[in-house]
Amino acid sequence: MKIDFQGFESYVSDKEIGKLSSEIAKHHLSIVNKNGIGNEFLGWVDLPEKLSKGLILDIEAESEKIRSKAEVYVVVGIGGSYLGAKAIVDALQNHFNSMKKERNYPYIIFAGQTLNEDYMADLIEILDKKNYCLVVVSKSGTTLEPSLAFRILRTHLENKYGKEKARERIIAVTDKEKGVLKDMSSSEGYKTYVISDDIGGRYSVLTPVGLLPIAVAGYDIRTLIHGAKKMRHNLLNNTTFETNIAWQYAAMRYLMYKNGKNIELMVNYSPNMASFAEWFKQLFGESEGKDGKGIFPSSVINTTDLHSLGQYIQDGKKQVFETIIHVDKSSKRVRIPYLEDDIDSLNYLLENSLTQINHKAEEGASMAHLDSGIPQIRICLEKLDEENLGQLIYFFEFSCALSAYLLEVNPFDQPGVEAYKKNMFKLLGK
Ligand code: PA5
Repeated sequence: MKIDFQGFESYVSDKEIGKLSSEIAKHHLSIVNKNGIGNEFLGWVDLPEKLSKGLILDIEAESEKIRSKAEVYVVVGIGGSYLGAKAIVDALQNHFNSMKKERNYPYIIFAGQTLNEDYMADLIEILDKKNYCLVVVSKSGTTLEPSLAFRILRTHLENKYGKEKARERIIAVTDKEKGVLKDMSSSEGYKTYVISDDIGGRYSVLTPVGLLPIAVAGYDIRTLIHGAKKMRHNLLNNTTFETNIAWQYAAMRYLMYKNGKNIELMVNYSPNMASFAEWFKQLFGESEGKDGKGIFPSSVINTTDLHSLGQYIQDGKKQVFETIIHVDKSSKRVRIPYLEDDIDSLNYLLENSLTQINHKAEEGASMAHLDSGIPQIRICLEKLDEENLGQLIYFFEFSCALSAYLLEVNPFDQPGVEAYKKNMFKLLGK
């Protein structure tokens, strides 16, 4: 994975970088030595190294069992309890899997991330006809959306298979000792996995929260973890501004923020990355957006959005900088047909693959945005696979903690989330 920066010259001086660099070095040490603000939630830092072989084997064995009896796997959770799994499953998926009759792996569906009634009704209609299993994920075990979805789906599962058989189709991922979900799992005898105390929801993708659904979907969790290990090694062993890409990324986005560019646009050129961008937005939005501070994380999928938000980005208010995820290679090829009469005048493209054309669109958009004063951070991956995604996860997690420390906010709490809950519970008469 590589990173480069364009269009920052007018915002960033060597002097500023030098000053920021020693600031970042200090925060880096706070993360590694676990003595900064929110340090009780730094379990993710060493997680890739600490994941036990036993746990990985157990998740793999369990996902094998699920695959043998489920056409659909329902993941019940919200926020950090579902976005990481969805980010990776969607990034690696065949986009049209849901329409395939023959499937080797269960189709992963999410629930408890919305209270929308039509969504739930449609899901139940499908689950009436399909064999399914479910995992309910909630660290607190008390979040309303997944709790309610779990009640509805557990009842459906029990009506469909009987209480005994339903029990074998349910897994809970939750706290090791507290919360309603933990109590219910103990009394009902569900298989459980633990989210450890020192890892918050949005940092939990490499725990069973993400690993189980990813394994059930048929992806290689060992390689994903290996990617995260590689990035961890890279970031922890390179402690200069010139060599540490998380330091560089955190510094540049901070300087953008200080210069009034308070919207970060993650730019992808693959629809498979839409959910990854959602994970990124939650990670940074929930970690940084507090005390009246923070960069607003946003995203586009191009070239689709070049025909939509592209207009605003090019010509609208100059408050955006871009973080582009460039993927070098695609895994499949499509031949562009030659037409003798060239009726659509596209024969000039024949020397390119679709990926090369997509890259040219990326380059063209980058040039146009640079011309219009939009600074760009470009993160380059060789391809979209488990190893690169593992690297990307750890890179953003580490960078996010550094970035929040630069803003002097606690990266690991989310006090603002409570406000809507308080009102909602009051309105519901709790
Ligand atoms: O990142 C976080 O901590 C949050 O987004 C939580 O994951 C989310 O609120 C769900 O919480 P819980 O897992 O306790 O149901």
